[in-house]
Amino acid sequence: MTSTALPEPRPLVDLTVDGTSVSAPVGSTILDACRGAAIDIPTLCYLDGITPANACRVCMVEVEGSRTLVPACSREVSDGLNVVTENDRVASNRRLVFELLASSVDMSLVDDVTVRWMDRYGVDPQRFGPEAATVDQPVKVQDDLYIRDYAKCILCYKCVAACGEEAQNTFAISAADRGFESTISTEFDIALPESACVYCGNCVAVCPTGALMVKTEYDMRRAGSWDEGSQTVVTTICPYCGVGCNLELHVQDNEIVKVMSPRDHPVTEGHLCIKGRFGYQHVQNR
Ligand code: SF4
Ligand code: SF4
Ligand code: FES
Repeated sequence: MTSTALPEPRPLVDLTVDGTSVSAPVGSTILDACRGAAIDIPTLCYLDGITPANACRVCMVEVEGSRTLVPACSREVSDGLNVVTENDRVASNRRLVFELLASSVDMSLVDDVTVRWMDRYGVDPQRFGPEAATVDQPVKVQDDLYIRDYAKCILCYKCVAACGEEAQNTFAISAADRGFESTISTEFDIALPESACVYCGNCVAVCPTGALMVKTEYDMRRAGSWDEGSQTVVTTICPYCGVGCNLELHVQDNEIVKVMSPRDHPVTEGHLCIKGRFGYQHVQNR
């Protein structure tokens, strides 16, 4: 039997956040320190346990002595750092980032947390008018498990990270093209079933905008029968193998309609394989 040694405790550094003294372990980011002090900062591209992509810029905060705003998700804390997480400059930057995204991307299905931040900053999705260029394109429906609707993609790269070397190690998707044409794609844009994808659905679980969606949810939304308010989430253990991944079964009208996994689980960190994520039909084959 193997044992896992606890990591060495890290020394603390002292900083100031919004006028309050805060301590955080060496190597923490400003975001870590703020979360430890129950100070909330919006994020879109940040994913716990993954090297920050620094792609979205909604987490920018003011740091004394720094000419520009700095990304809280990747800037490490240091002794004496003086951070302001919200003032007029920070709020107007966040509002602009959300409005620029909304000018070209369909943000109608962003997650509830993002909706709350957008409301808080008074984001006007129409600020840049209907003439703004958009990334509108047909939905990719290539199998029965999940769909890809890149008209809703904000290029946060979370799906690429979830498929990459710090998580799934499958490398089925990556960013393709440049500038406004950039998109997330399989190799040579081949159909998902022909690609390296193993259908773990871990990319779907981290997508904040509904660009990646399990097929059941997609079909039910189109039929007008998706009703999140009436769903219950039942926590259980995956029955397929001895790893024992935690499952969150989203149940509507006594049918499983989606399977997720808690990200704060210390072993599986929200990741599943195709069986745990999509192999539940036998339960409701009555
Ligand atoms: S389902 Fe899994 S393997 Fe396929 S693209 Fe998503 S993360 Fe990669
Ligand atoms: S598909 Fe979703 S997770 Fe992937 S980059 Fe686009 S918005 Fe982010
Ligand atoms: S969350 Fe920090 S740059 Fe996206």
